[in-house]
Amino acid sequence: MGYIIYHCKLLAFGLGRRACPGSGLAQRLVSLSLGSLIQCFEWERIGEEEVDMTEGGGLTMPRARPLVAMCRARAFVGKILHESG
Ligand code: HEM
Repeated sequence: MGYIIYHCKLLAFGLGRRACPGSGLAQRLVSLSLGSLIQCFEWERIGEEEVDMTEGGGLTMPRARPLVAMCRARAFVGKILHESG
C-alpha cells in the first residue's frame, strides 16, 4: 500500500533540493492574511482613477506600480478588539 503525495509547487519558493521548506506554512498564511484584510477592512481607491493593474517584470508577477489604497476597519473589528482586551 503506497501513499499518494500531492505536490503544489510554485516558482516563488524555488525548486529542487534547496526549495523553501516553509512553503506550506507560507501558502496557508498568505491566504489567511488576505482573507483577514478583506474580512476586517473596507477598502477604497484614493481617487476616481481605476487601480493600475499593470504587471512589472520578473517571474513572480510583481505590480508595475505599488498599490496605494485607503482602508478602514469594519465596525465589528473594534467590537471584537474591545471585548477581547
Ligand atoms: C511567502 C513566503 C516565502 C517565500 C516567497 C519564500 C521563498 C523562498 C525562496 C525563493 C527560497 C530559496 C530557494 C532556493 O534557493 O531555491 C527560500 C528558502 C528558504 N525558506 Fe522560504 N519563503 C517564504 C516563507 C518561508 C517560511 C514561512 C519559512 C519558515 C518557516 C521559510 C524558510 C526557508 C528556509 C529555511 C530556506 C532555506 C532552504 C535551504 O537553503 O535549504 N520560508 N524561501
